[in-house]
Amino acid sequence: MDISEIISKGFAALAPMAGVADRAFRELCTRYGAAYVVSEMVSSKGVSMHDRKSSQLMCISPDERPAAVQIFGDDPDTMAAAAVRALEYEPDFIDINMGCPAPKIAGNGGGSALMKKPELAQKIVAACVNAVDIPVTVKIRSGWDENSINAVELAKRAEAAGAAAITVHGRTREQMYAPPVNFDIIKEVKQAVSVPVIGNGDIVDGISAKHMYEYTGCDFIMVGRGALGRPWVFDQINAYLTDGTLIPDPPMEKRLAVMLEHIRAICEYKGEYIGIREARKHAAWYIKGIRGAASYRQEICAIESMEQLESIADSIMLSYE
Ligand SMILES: Cc1cc2nc3c(=O)[nH]c(=O)nc-3n(C[C@H](O)[C@H](O)[C@H](O)COP(=O)(O)O)c2cc1C
Repeated sequence: MDISEIISKGFAALAPMAGVADRAFRELCTRYGAAYVVSEMVSSKGVSMHDRKSSQLMCISPDERPAAVQIFGDDPDTMAAAAVRALEYEPDFIDINMGCPAPKIAGNGGGSALMKKPELAQKIVAACVNAVDIPVTVKIRSGWDENSINAVELAKRAEAAGAAAITVHGRTREQMYAPPVNFDIIKEVKQAVSVPVIGNGDIVDGISAKHMYEYTGCDFIMVGRGALGRPWVFDQINAYLTDGTLIPDPPMEKRLAVMLEHIRAICEYKGEYIGIREARKHAAWYIKGIRGAASYRQEICAIESMEQLESIADSIMLSYE
């Protein structure tokens, strides 16, 4: 399936989010209408060393299609070898991470550090494109810092190297996740390349999705934090962009039911011991903004079993009746 075909079938993709957008979350978002999903970033070095964790991160289930595997690294050969190995997991495409700001990644030359080395970035894209017969996409930021906004150059180089689409998170590395999103740079990238451009940054509902599309002229959009504890945001975006329908957030009972289903899936895939610990943050996101959220959050931070979470959900429900 090529990227144009994938994006013609929906409005928004789920962003790659390490430690968050795992199989359980990706499956849920797919069910709620995400047009495609992207794996948590996988280290190309880890893949080349046959590291078990990297292999697990690349697994894609039938319930989360179309899906990309995202890889990071700073060496063209290692990245190309990782892209080839990723094919074992049958991704619909490979995405290259050129946006991660984390010192552990960027400090080793990968992720957003590639924004500072456009020639190397281009070589990496070319190496991956030549190594695999599925589309290769690239995810960039606006630049390293406000004095080096170079997303247009990066995007042009990625396109020249054969990238099938470019996602632009409209923030610099230095901004990390702080506002504002630079919509102008996404617009400039869209005007500079012919491959699809995917706009990313602070989309949280139908209205912000429409703004991203209309202001930047982008071909598609990607949602990250706006989906945390709110996987139904894709339904809301799809409805709004189809005919202007504003779907409200689900009522409390439904919200809690989705939370429990999500966290049961995490526990099923990772085992309850690891799963419930990883799930605490998700549970906290689901109850964000509700009456008494702060004290429920404290309880959630200490849960050790699915049963404890179910009992918290019961108390929340009772306080809403
Ligand atoms: C917890 C977390 C983990 C992330 N991990 C990745 C990652 O693995 N790869 C990547 O390209 N971007 C990653 N990102 C960045 C997101 O994909 C996205 O570009 C960013 O959050 C901006 O979009 P948003 O405003 O919709 O959240 C991560 C973001 C968050 C919040």
